[in-house]
Amino acid sequence: MNIELTWEERIQNYVEKTGFPDNIFIGGDNRVVGTWIMGNDYRVKSSYYGGYPPTYLRRIKALFPDKKNVLHIFSGKVDLETFPGGTVDIKAELNPTYIDDAQNLAKVPLGNYDLVLADPPYSVEDCEHYGTTMVKRNKVMRALQRLKAGSHIVWLDQVLPMYRKDEFSVEATIGMWKSTNHRFRGITIFRKK
Ligand SMILES: C[S@@+](CC[C@H](N)C(=O)[O-])C[C@H]1O[C@@H](n2cnc3c(N)ncnc32)[C@H](O)[C@@H]1O
Repeated sequence: MNIELTWEERIQNYVEKTGFPDNIFIGGDNRVVGTWIMGNDYRVKSSYYGGYPPTYLRRIKALFPDKKNVLHIFSGKVDLETFPGGTVDIKAELNPTYIDDAQNLAKVPLGNYDLVLADPPYSVEDCEHYGTTMVKRNKVMRALQRLKAGSHIVWLDQVLPMYRKDEFSVEATIGMWKSTNHRFRGITIFRKK
């Protein structure tokens, strides 16, 4: 059986593996909070519009060393060398594992995955870059209710998606700054109940 790590252990592993300063903390209310300043290296390795900033995947991976099967939804050109896993995108030309709409994830065996990374387009303007329509975040969260208990979702966005409190708990929120003239984003980490 897989023993789930505590947040103390996750944070300790993050500091050890990334070498970044201790910038995630367990608050008095037992919520995990943090701020990541990603620095001014804003080149996305793949040069894909909206791609994860350098070090993002390394940081998330270090927080979840206990996870066995990772699924990237809204996967774009995610760097699978850094964080291998299954991928879901609506655009066939990106060759994802599953060409599917994240709003229902009908083709995805969600029970096989214990960690989901989600990076949706944030606005209609962003969607224009991908040729897609705006996503209803609550529908994505509803589809993710099919995950097994104990699975985590790492959701990067400018909005906290609507979710059912009887299905998920929010375990952590991390603010993410890139550099001047870039939008401020937040990472919300949900745990499936
Ligand atoms: C912000 S980008 C993700 C970039 C990715 N994190 C990376 O590092 O390359 C958002 C992606 O969501 C995809 N997308 C948009 N609407 C979608 C939907 N309804 N279902 C699945 N994917 C969708 C777009 O095609 C785009 O590749």
